[in-house]
Amino acid sequence: MDSNNTNRKVVVYTSETGFTKKYAGWIAEDLKCEVMDIKDWRNQKPADYQTVIYGGGFYAGSIKGLKKIKEQMKAYPDVKLIVFATGATPAESKEIIQGAMDANFTAEEKKNIPAFYFQSGLNYEKMSLKYKIMMKMFAGMMKKKADKTPEEQAMAEMLTHSYDYCKKENMKEFLEYSE
Ligand SMILES: Cc1cc2nc3c(=O)[nH]c(=O)nc-3n(C[C@H](O)[C@H](O)[C@H](O)COP(=O)(O)O)c2cc1C
Repeated sequence: MDSNNTNRKVVVYTSETGFTKKYAGWIAEDLKCEVMDIKDWRNQKPADYQTVIYGGGFYAGSIKGLKKIKEQMKAYPDVKLIVFATGATPAESKEIIQGAMDANFTAEEKKNIPAFYFQSGLNYEKMSLKYKIMMKMFAGMMKKKADKTPEEQAMAEMLTHSYDYCKKENMKEFLEYSE
């Protein structure tokens, strides 16, 4: 860890079912920096850091916890904020991902906050009841949908079970930017 404060980085995450936490741990390992849950971040002083890397999962199009951290970091314009989001959308669905990312940032924020997407998976065992019900409803809708594109057909099948597609390779572009 860089303790002289010249380039102190921290990875902060919100993770409901563990995927974002896994990526956060990998990033911290690679960048040799601290990593902490958003709950522990509340006791920290953002001004002690040069870079805050925030990660959250996509939940019905919104990156979990992003609004709050963006709001908090407005008071620290000298601290760089970098965002990563995890999701079940396949990495190849670039337009869908771009659209989802765009919806989470204003035009002004896009200029200042680099944002990256890492494909993850689904974990029904760790999902809260509320999320399990939402997911089952969405999976049911996708299954019933007529004239599915091959992309939608693949998605409909993926939604029926737990899987983990997290790979360190997915972070390549992000690490090239952040190192
Ligand atoms: C209720 C619910 C809604 C979701 N919505 C999306 C979504 O809009 N886009 C997407 O790509 N993935 C979606 N996912 C998948 C999650 O983003 C994915 O599992 C993520 O990695 C979860 O991160 P976490 O376990 O760290 O919270 C959703 C999952 C659940 C349970």
